[in-house]
Amino acid sequence: MQTLNERLYYHYRFYFLSDIIILMTSEKTIKAPIVEALINAYNKGSYHFHIPGHTRGGGVYEPFKNFMGDKFFRCDMTDEFDGIGTLNPPTGPIKEAEELCAELFGAQKSLFLLNGSTVGNIAIAMALSLQGKKIIVNRNCHRSVLTGMIVSGAEPLWVIPNKLEDWSLWGKINPADIENLLNTHNDVEMVWLTNPTYEGVVSDIKEISRICKAHNVPLVVDEAHGTLWKFNNELPTPSLDLGADIVVQSFHKTGGSMSQTSVMHISKDTKFDVEALVHSLRLLQTTSPSIILLAGLDAARAQLETEEGLHNIQMAIDNAKYLSSEINKLNHIQQLKQTPNDPTKIFIKADNLSGIQLETILEEDYNIEVEAASDRGILMLSNIGNSRKDFEYLANCLREIDNKDHTKFVKEKKKHMPMLIPQIKMNLREAFYSEKEEVKKENAIGRISAEVIAECPPGIAILLPGELITEEHLPYLEDYNVLEVVK
Ligand SMILES: Cc1ncc(COP(=O)(O)O)c(C=O)c1O
Repeated sequence: MQTLNERLYYHYRFYFLSDIIILMTSEKTIKAPIVEALINAYNKGSYHFHIPGHTRGGGVYEPFKNFMGDKFFRCDMTDEFDGIGTLNPPTGPIKEAEELCAELFGAQKSLFLLNGSTVGNIAIAMALSLQGKKIIVNRNCHRSVLTGMIVSGAEPLWVIPNKLEDWSLWGKINPADIENLLNTHNDVEMVWLTNPTYEGVVSDIKEISRICKAHNVPLVVDEAHGTLWKFNNELPTPSLDLGADIVVQSFHKTGGSMSQTSVMHISKDTKFDVEALVHSLRLLQTTSPSIILLAGLDAARAQLETEEGLHNIQMAIDNAKYLSSEINKLNHIQQLKQTPNDPTKIFIKADNLSGIQLETILEEDYNIEVEAASDRGILMLSNIGNSRKDFEYLANCLREIDNKDHTKFVKEKKKHMPMLIPQIKMNLREAFYSEKEEVKKENAIGRISAEVIAECPPGIAILLPGELITEEHLPYLEDYNVLEVVK
C-alpha cells in the first residue's frame, strides 16, 4: 500500500517545458502564472537599470543578505519588468492569476490585495459608500472598515452581536437585528459584516443574505479569517456561495500566502459598480507591487487546487479535533464551543489563570507562541502548515499546566475585548477631522473622542471619533496616558 506522500509523488510531477513549469496531476493541469513568470525572470540574467534599487541584492547590507539568502533578493522585483505583467491594471501573468483565482472561488473577479484585507476594506468604503449614507455594520468590525467609513463619510448603523460574557467575546450577529434596521431605514447603502469573528464564531450569513436580497440591499462580508472554507465541507460555507456581493479574504492568515497578501472576490451577480471598486483599489494600492508577494498569492491558490493542499486542510481540521478532544479531558481548561464554528480556531480559558498568564506560561516555560491572548483566554490556530506532532506537544503542555496548582490568578487590570455600546455624539468623519486637543486620560471622561482606538489584535473599536468617553472605557485604556478629544 502506498503512503500518501508516495501517492502524491506519483500524482504530481513538475514538468520543465522550455521555460515554463506546469504542475500536472492525474486529473488536471494546475498553473501558477506569476510563479512561472518569476522563475523565468530569475533565470533570464538580464542587466537591470530600474527599481528596486538594490538591483537583485547588489546593494543590500551584507549580513542581512547572507541571512536571507541571495535568491530572495534576486527574486525581489516589481511588476512591469521581465514579462511579469502589471497589477494595476491587471495584465499578463498577474491578470491570468487573478482570473484563475476567480474561477476557483466562483467569483466574477478576484482582485489581489497588497496591504492585506485592510486595503480591500478601505477601497470598498471609498468606492461604494457616499458621505452621509448609511451602512449597517457590526460593532466588532475590524478597524480597516472604520478607516473606510472615515474616508467615505458614510454613517454606520451599528449592529450589536450577541455577547459571550463568560468568554469576554463577541458572538453571532442576529439576522433579525439586520432585518429590523432595514425595516426602519429605507436608505441603507449596504450591509457590511464580519464573518467569522477572529475566534471563529460564525453567523447565519445565508439568512442575512436572504434578508438583504429581500430589501434589495447588497451584502459585503469581511471574511478575513475564512479563506479555506470553500475547500472542506467540515468548514462553514463561504459567504460568496451564500449570496454575498463582495467578500474579502486574508489569504495570508490561513491560506498559506505571505503576510499582507489578501484577495477581494466580487460575485457574478452583484449590482455594485465593479469598475468603481477597481478604480479605488488602483488609487490605494502600491505602484510597486512585490512580485514575491504576488507569486505567494498565486502559489497559495494553486496549492488549493492540489490534492496535497486539500489534504493539508483536512490535517488542520483533524489536528484541531484532536486538540479539542484532549482539552475535553482537562479539569481546569475549557474550550469555547459554538455551532456552527470554524474548528481550526481554538479559544480556551483556564479556571485559575488569566489569558495573559496562560500565554506567558506557554511562551516562557514551553516555547509556544499563540495567536492572541486576552484578559480571559487565548486563541490558537490549527494551520495548514502545522503537524500532528505540534499538537501532541501542545496537548502535553496544556495537560501539565492543567495538573499544576495555579493559585496566583492575576485579575488583569487591562480589559482586551471592547464590548461597550457606543454613545454617539457626533458624525464619525466630522469628529475625525474636527479641531482636536490632547487631554490626560482622567480628564477625558465626558469628552468626545477624536481618534480611533482599536488595538490589534483584534483591531475592534474601543472608541471612535464622535463617541462619548466614559468611565467604562478606562479598563481598556490602561496603556494610554492621553487621549485625543474634540476641542
Ligand atoms: C476581521 C478582520 N478584517 C480585516 C482584517 C485586516 O486584515 P489584514 O491583516 O489582511 O489587512 C483583520 C485583521 O486581523 C481582521 O481580523
